[in-house]
Amino acid sequence: MTPGGNRAWRVALGADHAGYAAKKELFRELAGLGYKVVDYGTHSVEPCDYPEYALRVSKAVAGGRCDRGILVCGSGLGMEIAANKVRGIRAAAPWSVRTAKLASQHNWSNVLCLPGRFASIPTLKKMAAAWLKTAPERGGRHERRVKKIIKIESKF
Ligand code: RB5
Repeated sequence: MTPGGNRAWRVALGADHAGYAAKKELFRELAGLGYKVVDYGTHSVEPCDYPEYALRVSKAVAGGRCDRGILVCGSGLGMEIAANKVRGIRAAAPWSVRTAKLASQHNWSNVLCLPGRFASIPTLKKMAAAWLKTAPERGGRHERRVKKIIKIESKF
């Protein structure tokens, strides 16, 4: 993963029905900022199951087809739980622009899970853009801690 702010990044985007409207807006916003955005669905407001989209986006990121992933469901929480089941994924569900930045800077998250029903579209756009351009902080206590997370994953 290269440092944040790389506009050449391929960003995998996915949502369930509760995040569908926000996903459309995020697609436009991030494409407008210069990211190469890949839409992994869903493609309507027809009720669907969020783990399917969490898996599609997480596989794209873990497999290297995309550099980062963004998932939207109602709360962000189901997507976060499902995405974190995929080896190599560090999915975070922030609740503000500040915590979105920290999710990259301190936690090195590679998937962001957003709450389509609990934040406005402008706030979701700001959270996504801030997360994408914030680089993971390397070489200090945060790297040590993330490496401990990676070590846990390697044992199970
Ligand atoms: C769908 O109604 C809702 O449960 C889902 O979008 C998500 O919030 C789950 O965590």
